[in-house]
Amino acid sequence: MSVIQKIAIIGSGTMGGGIAISALSGGIKTVLIDTSDASLERAQARVHKYFDRQVSKERITAQDRENALSCLQFSTDFSAASDADLVIEAVFEDLDIKKSVFSQLEQVISRTCHLATNTSALKVSEIASALVYPDRFCGLHYFSPAEVNPVVEVVRSDVTQDNTVTATLSFLDTCRKIPIECKDQSGFALNRFFCPYTNEAARCIDDGLGSPAQIDEVAKQVFGVPIGPFFVMNIVKPRINLAAVRNLAHLGPFYAPATSLSKTGDAGENWEIDGTPPALAPEIQQTISDRLQGAIYFAVKQELDEGVATAKAIDLGACRAFAFAKGPVEMMQRLGSETVAHMISLVEDKNNLTRLST
Ligand SMILES: NC(=O)c1ccc[n+]([C@@H]2O[C@H](COP(=O)([O-])OP(=O)(O)OC[C@H]3O[C@@H](n4cnc5c(N)ncnc54)[C@H](O)[C@@H]3O)[C@@H](O)[C@H]2O)c1
Repeated sequence: MSVIQKIAIIGSGTMGGGIAISALSGGIKTVLIDTSDASLERAQARVHKYFDRQVSKERITAQDRENALSCLQFSTDFSAASDADLVIEAVFEDLDIKKSVFSQLEQVISRTCHLATNTSALKVSEIASALVYPDRFCGLHYFSPAEVNPVVEVVRSDVTQDNTVTATLSFLDTCRKIPIECKDQSGFALNRFFCPYTNEAARCIDDGLGSPAQIDEVAKQVFGVPIGPFFVMNIVKPRINLAAVRNLAHLGPFYAPATSLSKTGDAGENWEIDGTPPALAPEIQQTISDRLQGAIYFAVKQELDEGVATAKAIDLGACRAFAFAKGPVEMMQRLGSETVAHMISLVEDKNNLTRLST
């Protein structure tokens, strides 16, 4: 197996900067490459600030900081990736730009170098179609902030070779990341159910069941999460969340974006989450709880049927990427098939009816 000692990251924005911090924390030599000097300067300031804070909080020593920073280089020239064992691309979410980046990279990298994309919504296999050797290519989908969130989805296309997956798993282990292996399906393993969860929360708003703060409270109780779906959407940004939800819409009517989700996302507005909301009536709370669970269980059952990821991987990802107290598969097992079927019927039937009436 090839060992990853040096990586190049193309794109030094939100994700590229975070991925660099994560790799440096694992002692991996890292070169950040970007066409924008300003972006590289911002990334440099961010990396320094991160390691300074780690020292001031006594999580690492000053020597650890120096060691990490000495492993970091910056460049505006793709040839700086020529001796990398792995290149992770984190440029704008645009298929043509990503394809062009990989075509340029193939001119300068070694034949043994592995390639990965951090795309959220594009097909890994479609990006790989630009490559002469697509078998050395996979998805490495980090969650924001990449220096903090421990989970990374490792996405195989139909032609990704085992050697590439093994090498990237070993790299992630060195960086103390938790890999979730999955297939190249829209939403991969985790957004496949997390997007329907945020979408169903918005449908509950559309149906007048409660306010964002009230629905967040129900979600916190049901899933043991520290923050509810609306709070998460405000952090991710409703526009980005809407794009992720829209990316699943081709999977069927159940996945179509809720009216308020589209409105808020398209307007670039945040959800209004007012302090401590008045408690909802118990039967309304139950309905919201059942619908949020139904949406997650519907999507998880589908992805299990499609073999997108294993039950274990889905549960691990839910707990570690989204801080669920229990994974959805374990929750379904505890509830039993009859209760789960009832919860799913609440969201499945509703969306089929919506489709018929429009
Ligand atoms: N932001 C998130 O929460 C998040 C989470 C997971 C995955 N992603 C994915 O990660 C990727 C990057 O997202 P981001 O939020 O970091 O974007 P960003 O806009 O913050 O950064 C993109 C960077 O790429 C650089 N760039 C653009 N074209 C380039 C090129 N041809 N060559 C070199 N550099 C180039 C830009 O200058 C910029 O610095 C996207 O595919 C996105 O979908 C984002």
